[in-house]
Amino acid sequence: MAAAPGRRRPAVLLWAAVCLATALAVDRSNFKTCEQSGFCRRQRGLQPGHSPYRALLESLQLGPDAARLQLVNEVTKVPLLLELWGLQGNVTRIRIKELNPLRPRFEVPDVLVAEPPVERLAVTGRDEGSLELSLGPAGHRLLVTEKPFRMDLLQGRELLCSVNARGLLFFEHLRQRRDSDTPREPTAEEGGAAEGQEETTGGTEDAGTQSEKPTEATAEAAEEPGSWEETFKTHTDTKPNGPTSVGLDFSLPGFEHVYGIPEHADSLRLRTTEGGDPYRLYNLDVFQYELYNPMALYGSVPLLLAHSARRTLGIFWLNAAETWVDISSNTAGKTLFGKLLDYMQGGGETPQTDVRWMSESGIVDVFLLLGPTPAAVAGQYAALTGTQALPPLFALGYHQSRWNYNDEEDVAAVERGFEEHAVPCDVLWLDIEHADGKRYFTWDPSKFPRPRDMLQRLAAKKRKMVSIVDPHIKVDSGYRVHNELRSRGFYVKTKDGSDYEGWCWPGSAAYPDFTNPEMRAWWASMFAYDQYEGSTENLFTWNDMNEPSVFSGPEVTMHKDAVHHGGWEHRDLHNLYGLYVQMATAEGQIQRSGGQHRPFVLSRAFFAGSQRYGAVWTGDNAAEWEHLKISIPMCLSFGLAGLSFCGSDVGGFFKNPEAELLVRWYQAGAFQPFFRAHAHLDTARREPWLFGEENVALIRAAIRQRYALLPFWYTAFYRSHRHGLPVMRPLWMEYPEDATTFAIDDQYMIDRALLVHPVTEQGARGVQVYLPGKGEVWYDVASLQKHHAPQTLYVPVTMSSVPVFQRGGTVVPRQERVRRSTECMRGDPFTLYVALSPQGTAEGDLFLDDGQSFDYETKARYLHRQFTFAGNTLTASSADPRGSFDTPAWLERVVILGAGKPAAVVLRPADGSETRLDFQHEAETSVLTLRKPGVRIGDDWAIVLR
Ligand code: GLC
Repeated sequence: MAAAPGRRRPAVLLWAAVCLATALAVDRSNFKTCEQSGFCRRQRGLQPGHSPYRALLESLQLGPDAARLQLVNEVTKVPLLLELWGLQGNVTRIRIKELNPLRPRFEVPDVLVAEPPVERLAVTGRDEGSLELSLGPAGHRLLVTEKPFRMDLLQGRELLCSVNARGLLFFEHLRQRRDSDTPREPTAEEGGAAEGQEETTGGTEDAGTQSEKPTEATAEAAEEPGSWEETFKTHTDTKPNGPTSVGLDFSLPGFEHVYGIPEHADSLRLRTTEGGDPYRLYNLDVFQYELYNPMALYGSVPLLLAHSARRTLGIFWLNAAETWVDISSNTAGKTLFGKLLDYMQGGGETPQTDVRWMSESGIVDVFLLLGPTPAAVAGQYAALTGTQALPPLFALGYHQSRWNYNDEEDVAAVERGFEEHAVPCDVLWLDIEHADGKRYFTWDPSKFPRPRDMLQRLAAKKRKMVSIVDPHIKVDSGYRVHNELRSRGFYVKTKDGSDYEGWCWPGSAAYPDFTNPEMRAWWASMFAYDQYEGSTENLFTWNDMNEPSVFSGPEVTMHKDAVHHGGWEHRDLHNLYGLYVQMATAEGQIQRSGGQHRPFVLSRAFFAGSQRYGAVWTGDNAAEWEHLKISIPMCLSFGLAGLSFCGSDVGGFFKNPEAELLVRWYQAGAFQPFFRAHAHLDTARREPWLFGEENVALIRAAIRQRYALLPFWYTAFYRSHRHGLPVMRPLWMEYPEDATTFAIDDQYMIDRALLVHPVTEQGARGVQVYLPGKGEVWYDVASLQKHHAPQTLYVPVTMSSVPVFQRGGTVVPRQERVRRSTECMRGDPFTLYVALSPQGTAEGDLFLDDGQSFDYETKARYLHRQFTFAGNTLTASSADPRGSFDTPAWLERVVILGAGKPAAVVLRPADGSETRLDFQHEAETSVLTLRKPGVRIGDDWAIVLR
């Protein structure tokens, strides 16, 4: 067996050993467990049922917007301020911070798109130990209990969510460091011998001290060693602010299924974390990540969704520090039979999921998104953090990448390959080797001496290019970018005030402070054509390593005591760094076009709100079947957290895929939102034509399917952009009451019309596809055969099969004259696939614009068409009369699935005339094909079956 390719790291690093490994497995010792993360250990050490907090109900102040009252920790006597808002659209916001903090605590900026409008709150009940607030017109009430402090959110008589019901609110207030807190060497018993890792004491603020009402000082005396300094492996985190963590629990009665909190390489449905580590949210560059575990990965979105057949609810924990999430459930481990038995004996408890959030710093700022439907939760989250940016159309085409395309000749040869083999491709990518010594914004002078010519050659073929621009900057006094950043004071600083430096691809590197708006403006200006020399309009950007990745740093990232703009520690905002990198880059692309053109930026790290800036992918996966499989739940989970534009490296980044895996990956990738093949530097070349005639034909067919469906994809993205619904979504978003769909990981919906079950098993002869929807029908898009639902259908497969089904009752637009790139297909005629419901109805839409500018927004230059089939008539009308857009595109075919044979088919354009249309009817499959209606796609018309 060939040795697995390793990732290249500067030889000076410990990585060398790892790189030689043949089996792909993360080196877990590089990353902290909860036990090794001081605050997580302290938080988790607090057991349920001992809350020291009391709500001072008499302190309630009801303002025009918020209700405010104090909480007090009865042990430390430190007062907290609780703020409550009822926000319009069924959202409740809860904030807890210190009433009188020693210093300001970090509150996450730039994530919320607007301060959400508030509802009027009112006190609707009060007794000795509790008070009741009404939260607006939806009938939500919040019951605040004094002691121990808890809150219960109700709608009518239904309890939706309880806060601090388990008493796990744990707010480490800021404090003065006392002399006795000066760090001391841990003794051997305390774990000093084991690489300086701290001992678990389980000690918490409340432990055993309740009776004697200790002062703050005695409570602090209970602080475990490590509270003011923490060492992991060779790295010491000086913690100048001491312990600052916050934690809180939420109980969700009636919910057994929870989702979200990407990024984890895990099943879509989250597992309980009892007996293991919590899910971790801490943007990290994890070399050779392992599947099915809760370890942190490159991005974080602290949004968790709970779903049951009755309702959907979301918890958005707005905190950008390292965060851990514990999940427990009273039904975990019970078999279906056990639950049934409980139920029959009448003794079953209501199922309940408990969620506990723990963050290292900041404040508690939580939004409870009360649904009640999955779409409503998606809309509520989008109203807070924004929606998916509408990608330029080309970005929905196929992307060809590898680390690296070596030089201009190589790029030309690869492009020729696509021409010669008639494989559509929109974008070629250049990885880090294209730059001069990994100095981003430059080109290697011998390999890429004429980048403009190269880009123009691509442009002539209506293709684009993406070059990588990472956020670590080579420390080199001959490098203009570095000199400017340094002289302007734009780098992140160490705690001592010097420029923070670490090792990354270029060797010694410094890290621009993307949290500084001035620095971001400067960065954006670097994308101007005269700044980024050799760049042209068809060059776009890839931001990688923006967790940030620091090879020489703790857990391969930045030291937490590094200092950012405004004096904030890296600890406070770590998970936001990547978002800012992508934000500044997208802004740069917009600016270089004078505000005309939509940007395309791919980012590896992300946070809540990153959807506004471009695409994301699942990082360094491997050419293994299990990695192909997990790309589905991973992207679904991204989508639930607002990030619709997700993909995984087609073919797998590490290792060499066998032909079967590669073909299956292309077939799956063609039905995922971001469709890019990518590979590690040390892998064998794997352009589609290198696997023989048969396989290139299969890959070509998969990519062509993608291109034929681009109008459908683009319309789905437009919907996501407008309403916040994920493009790729779990079945339960469309069938919220069907419990069979709640734990499905191997199939999904694209928008509301297509159900996809890619083949992800080696040597598969068939797949079991679950078709949901009582009384609905589905049409196999390959055979056009109709199937009744609900049922689990066995679909036999060959190497060319990609099981995809169109839902009865939908219309899917296609462009079936597939060409070399999306731009070449602009203005091409359309085909409508009208899949009839059992009632003989269908509807769907089509969004169309120039595919690249902001004109759809600023000048209403777009078409949004509506197609409705009812009463044997297909009608085209405007879905949105505000837009208009001139296009020569026309309707070349209509395929009606599930139709009887008409005596005649008549086209009625808007002018009132009538023309007979040619048609063909397949009795066996009930497919009616109407030839050449010939009408303009933007016109109103009707087609009547007689
Ligand atoms: C990181 C990226 C990978 C890229 C490589 C070199 O590992 O995740 O996609 O090819 O860096 O830039």
